[in-house]
Amino acid sequence: MKVTWNLPGGEAVTAQVDYGQNLMEAAQAQSVPGIIGDCGGSLACATCHVHVATDWRQACGAPGEFEDAMLDMVDDRQDGSRLSCQIEAAPALDGLVLTVPES
Ligand code: FES
Repeated sequence: MKVTWNLPGGEAVTAQVDYGQNLMEAAQAQSVPGIIGDCGGSLACATCHVHVATDWRQACGAPGEFEDAMLDMVDDRQDGSRLSCQIEAAPALDGLVLTVPES
C-alpha cells in the first residue's frame, strides 16, 4: 500500500508499505525524519506521533486507551493524532496521508 508522510518543512516522503507492517516501522525503513520509535512499538515513548489527514481518520480509527494516555503527553496533540506504531498497514489504508509534527 502507498503511504505519504508530509514533513514539517513542506517536503514529503511517499513509499510502498507491506500489509501487516506498522507505520512506525515503515517510517524507520524509509528514514522519515521525526519518526523515532524509541520504544520499538511498545506504547512507551510517543516518538512515533503523527497527525492523520482528515480524510483518513475514520479508516485509521481512534486511539486505544493506552495510546490515548500516551498522546496526552505530546506537545501538539490534534484531533488526528495517533501513534504510528499502533497503525497497521492494511488494504483499507492504501493511499494514507500522515503529517509528521514539528516537535
Ligand atoms: S514507537 Fe514508542 S509509542 Fe510508538
